[in-house]
Amino acid sequence: HTGTRRHTPRSLGMLDTPIVSLTAYTTPMARLMDPHCDLLLVGDSLGMVVYGMDSTLGVTTEMMIAHGQAVVRGSQNACVAIDLPFGSYQQSPQQAFQTAAEVMARTGAGCVKLEGGVEMAETIQFLTQRGIPVIGHIGLKPQAVHTHGGFRTVGRGEEAEQIMQDAQAVTDAGAFAVVIESTLEPLARAITEKLPIPTIGIGASPACGGQVLVGEDMLGLFTDFTPRFVKRFGNLAEQVDKAVADYAHAVRQRQFPSAEQCVGLPKGK
Ligand code: KIV
Ligand code: NA
Repeated sequence: HTGTRRHTPRSLGMLDTPIVSLTAYTTPMARLMDPHCDLLLVGDSLGMVVYGMDSTLGVTTEMMIAHGQAVVRGSQNACVAIDLPFGSYQQSPQQAFQTAAEVMARTGAGCVKLEGGVEMAETIQFLTQRGIPVIGHIGLKPQAVHTHGGFRTVGRGEEAEQIMQDAQAVTDAGAFAVVIESTLEPLARAITEKLPIPTIGIGASPACGGQVLVGEDMLGLFTDFTPRFVKRFGNLAEQVDKAVADYAHAVRQRQFPSAEQCVGLPKGK
């Protein structure tokens, strides 16, 4: 990073190191992640991680815009991508354009991401031809959890050929990158080797052109369930638990606030 301007879809494609990406939903988390990341993704996973939903299907465009604005405000280095939520783009290319244009205009994000392969190729082409950079999302598609039959690894048997076709279709349609989620490693590797655009893996392959994780997962802050592909690089849940317990104890013992925190008393007592 030059320190002068934010990553763009174009500059992400010219990196000579893997694209470093995390999800971010809030300004303070974006501020902490931004110096280290090339791409911040405002994922619709926020429905589960921040709002306690049991799938991403209830996430709305308004939620994505509010959190997208928060992440754009908290970042200056990384390119910001915002997920189009379930029901906001699948009906037609026109519906997708209207949603994506509103998301881009109201947040200042650099691109959008949408789930789907062959069936979304026409839509991806419609958006990219009209000035909206798109990241595809293939393999496990959480918005299709009910047709997938749960959150599971995909790419076995006949699925492998379908996912390979999806990868080719989103690339041909003009996506500048594609997320591959929860897909057997050899398939994710083969897709990465075949495509001219960067693949961004989550539960995919070290060969991918980049990696993404849900921030709260890798920080050990969201522990409801943890798929095998998550590595905990931190254990914030433990630290939050300890801090809150210490606070509760201090309040109950009347140790907080002390003179230090009280205006009108001498400090340092
Ligand atoms: O919503 C999300 O967080 C995502 C990433 C995990 C790729 O789509
Ligand atoms: Na998502």
